[in-house]
Amino acid sequence: MPTKLQKFEAFKQFKNSFAYSYNDYIIKNSTFSAYGKWNKEYFNNNYPIIIEIACGRGEYTVNLAMRYLHQNFIGIDYKSNRMWVGAKQSIEQKLNNIAFIRTKVEFLDKVFAENEISEIWITFPDPQIQKSREKKRLTHPKFLAHYKKFLIPNGTIHLKTDNDIFFNYTIDVLKTLRIQPLLCSYNLYAEENNSKLEEVKSIKTYYEKLFTQQGYSIKYCQFQLH
Ligand SMILES: C[S@@+](CC[C@H](N)C(=O)[O-])C[C@H]1O[C@@H](n2cnc3c(N)ncnc32)[C@H](O)[C@@H]1O
Repeated sequence: MPTKLQKFEAFKQFKNSFAYSYNDYIIKNSTFSAYGKWNKEYFNNNYPIIIEIACGRGEYTVNLAMRYLHQNFIGIDYKSNRMWVGAKQSIEQKLNNIAFIRTKVEFLDKVFAENEISEIWITFPDPQIQKSREKKRLTHPKFLAHYKKFLIPNGTIHLKTDNDIFFNYTIDVLKTLRIQPLLCSYNLYAEENNSKLEEVKSIKTYYEKLFTQQGYSIKYCQFQLH
């Protein structure tokens, strides 16, 4: 198994992997080179682009890309040693509809242009349960407003988490914003006879497996921003 450092280096060389600079000056002054051109210059098609943020090893990104060859998928995380797993697997599987970007969620409006993204998956983000870290939660209204900058109107956002505090917080945020979830479950794997949830159950991320084994119930919510 390669070391963390070897994974960082290998990720930089993968043809399906990118990094967007942390340098403040660049962030304030320039967009990523593929901004607004992901389909034209990287995927070479006009398929919808779906992103997974805080993707870790990228299980959702890879599995959805294998299932839906007529959609494009991009995993995003700031830890490239984790994404190395999904990026390497995608190369081995010869998937052309996938990419990984090492960057912070906070910078995504410099990576994607208006209406460039069709759907967002947020899978087991750090729940940031301390009140003082509320603004870091990836469903804070500040982040939802951020996603709106590149998500198509009525683009769907999916959230999966094990954390009650974070999940209830998200539901409250949606209520405050008068957003009615399209689908919502407080115990996903106890749900039966709901065909709409079958796909959501069919892919488990690395953390999802850990939390499920530890006996936590998995929560899921699907919603659209007005
Ligand atoms: C608990 S892990 C979940 C990983 C994966 N989705 C899973 O379920 O196995 C949370 C991930 O979010 C990433 N992350 C946290 N804050 C982030 C941010 N602001 N921008 C990009 N990635 C972030 C971390 O690097 C970590 O890989």
